[in-house]
Amino acid sequence: MSEIDDKLSVLFVCLGNICRSPLAEGVFRHLVREAGFESRFVIDSAGTSSYHAGDPPDQRTTAVAHARGVKLTGASRQLLSQDLHTFDYLIVMDEDNLAEVRRMAGKQAPRAAVHLLREFDREANGDLNVPDPYYGGPRGFENVHDIVERSCTALLAHVRAQHSL
Ligand code: 4NP
Repeated sequence: MSEIDDKLSVLFVCLGNICRSPLAEGVFRHLVREAGFESRFVIDSAGTSSYHAGDPPDQRTTAVAHARGVKLTGASRQLLSQDLHTFDYLIVMDEDNLAEVRRMAGKQAPRAAVHLLREFDREANGDLNVPDPYYGGPRGFENVHDIVERSCTALLAHVRAQHSL
């Protein structure tokens, strides 16, 4: 059995895999670790594009995360069709990402449960997109961190409830 088979696996997805999804990966891992479940999870992130393949997370995202006690690691990689069937959960940042996952899936429904991250945000107020902070100012990165922190907390509660953890 491969490592991913006997663990709960969660893949966060955005466009570039340098701002939103590596942040969600880092925040979720931080929460999982705090809850004492690190050994039960495989947590990763990917981008629907290959624009930044191999790049580390954006420095602006990393700086805000660091200030809040979350360390970001890893390098950008593009989402693969096989990810749709190897992970238990695919958590996408916006509706464009969702459309791309659906396009990649084609006629075969993903094995993964696919959700928009903000389905878990009680303050979403009907907007289920995590805004892309890449071309904006510093306030955008703080806002994205707030959204990701709230949503990942509720996502972990959802996953724990589904798996009686
Ligand atoms: P992300 O942000 O999808 O949250 O990683 C972006 C990063 C890079 C680009 C767009 C969005 N880009 O166009 O290069």
